[in-house]
Order: sequence, then structure tokens, then C-alpha cells
Amino acid sequence: MRHLLAIRDLEVKDIQDLLELAADIKKNKPTPSTTKSSEQRVLGMLFFENSTRTRVSFEQAARGLGMQYTSFGVTGSSIAKGESLKDTVITLRSTGVDALVMRHDASGAPYLAAKFFNGPVINAGDGMHEHPTQALADAMTILEHFPSVKGLRISIVGDIFHSRVARSNIWLLSKLGAEVRLVGPRTLLPRYPGGLPASLYSDLATGIANADVVMALRLQKERMGDGLISSVSEYASQFQINSRTIRIAKPECLVMHPGPINRGLELDDAVADGKNSVISEQVENGVFVRMAALKWAFSNKLDNKAAVTAKGAKS
Ligand code: NCD
Repeated sequence: MRHLLAIRDLEVKDIQDLLELAADIKKNKPTPSTTKSSEQRVLGMLFFENSTRTRVSFEQAARGLGMQYTSFGVTGSSIAKGESLKDTVITLRSTGVDALVMRHDASGAPYLAAKFFNGPVINAGDGMHEHPTQALADAMTILEHFPSVKGLRISIVGDIFHSRVARSNIWLLSKLGAEVRLVGPRTLLPRYPGGLPASLYSDLATGIANADVVMALRLQKERMGDGLISSVSEYASQFQINSRTIRIAKPECLVMHPGPINRGLELDDAVADGKNSVISEQVENGVFVRMAALKWAFSNKLDNKAAVTAKGAKS
């Protein structure tokens, strides 16, 4: 077994394996009866932050593989009584949950869970750190439109600073050979970009010029302190991807957004629902990559140095 905590920790081979597995699952649509080994397994879905698409697609992925799942939120569980993450994880382990899918507002929380849980832990988004399965869904979608990610110019536009989706995509797409551009107001670009394999643009026209893929991100108001943007309408006037600004990118470019979209802010309706948009394909592929991630996490490969391997786990 192995954890899926961050794309940054993965070898290119792992990323390729995951993407191939997801494409194969999509093509051959496994029925629960062809995935007997997972039938006895129970997935614990630990969501400390709101989520619609990620939670539902993990549930659909579990169902597709014939796995059982049980959901825990902050309300309705002992977490609301102040139980620590460590104790919650140890309790889940003792009740016989086989794997954890976890979303948490603290960056790095899944690493702590992985330390105390004896099965695979899959990060479903941790704070401002990573959201590996979203990046895998995005790469899978890109690969359905281009033969390879290598050499593509991919511009990620918007609130990069608060975005775990951006961080996972920066690592994944650059590992696969793309030129990654981060575009947004200076206050919403990474503060210490030195270690990131991407270039920074605070001007939309330069940032998305000739892009093969334009990925817009949500303005994460819940993580945003005051003073980062002067107003949402000013943001929209400078960084919105709309029927006028999209012309700066390549005519056949893909328009992506991990959702949820603030319509009329990051994207206008014409572009969100237009011919270049692959947003619903991202959602659809989210289920297949999550099935792949679950299979991969349970697969019995113990020589994977990059993905942290837990001791004493069931394989
Ligand atoms: C993102 C998230 O929660 O990280 N959404 C998602 O999982 N598809 C992005 C966001 O909240 O803006």
C-alpha cells in the first residue's frame, strides 16, 4: 500500500501509472464484480472542510470499485467535541476502516494522519498545500485533447497564492514537461516562487499569450485577508477570462476551472460554457482518477520510495 499525499513527492513514473490506470478504467468501466479484492474494503471519508465535487467523486469512485465508505464531517462527529486529529485517526483505525480520504484546512494534515493510520491515506485537499487528485483529473483531461503534456504552454490564472490545485498542477504539469505560467495580481501570486517550476506574470495578456491551456482558479475569499485585491470588479476587469481575453490564447486552447466557479468573476458565461471549455470533462475524469488513486494506493508495491509508505499496513 502507499499514500497519495502530494504530487511533489511522486516520481514521473507514478504519475504516468496513475494516468494510464485512470484512462484504462474509463475505457473498460470496471464493474464491482471485476474488482472483487476491494469488496471488503471500507473507505473513511474525513472531510474537515466543505466540498461537493471532490467528496461526491470519491464516493462515486468507491462505489464504482465496489468499496464501502463511511463519511465523517466536523459536525456530527467527535471532532466537534474537540477530539484531536491524531485521536480521530487512531479511532478510525481501530474501527477497521481500511483507507482514509481526507480534506483538511491545515496544510500537511494528511501527513500527520498517515503517521497514525495503518492504511493508505489519500489527500483530498489540504489547506494551501496540494490537491493531487484534482491535478490528475486535469492532466487526464488535457491528455484527451493533446497527445502529450510535453511542450504545452499552460497558464494558471487567478488566486494562485491560496490554491492547492495550482500547487499540485504546477508540480504535475512541469514534471510532465509543460511550460507552466502563473498569472494573477502580484498579491495573489506565490510569495516565494523561487522553488516552483513556473514563471510569474502579473499581466493577463502576456501571461496567457499563445497558451494551449488556460486554467482559471476561484478567488478563495475564505482564505483571503484584507487588502489582497482592491475589489472583485477590478479583479474581473483585469484577469477575467472572457470572450475578449480568450482570443489572446491559442484559438483551440482548452479552458479549465477546478470549480466551484464564481461566474462573472473568474470566467464569463460565454467562456465557461463555450466551445473551448472542458470543465465538465474535468469533473467526469475526477471520478476515474479517484478510482485509479484508490487502486494504486492499495496496490502491493512496496518499493515506491517517493510516495511515503506506511509500516505494518494491509496491502
Ligand atoms: C478546489 C478545492 O477545494 O481545492 N475545488 C475542488 O476541489 N475541485 C478549488 C477551490 O475551492 O476553489
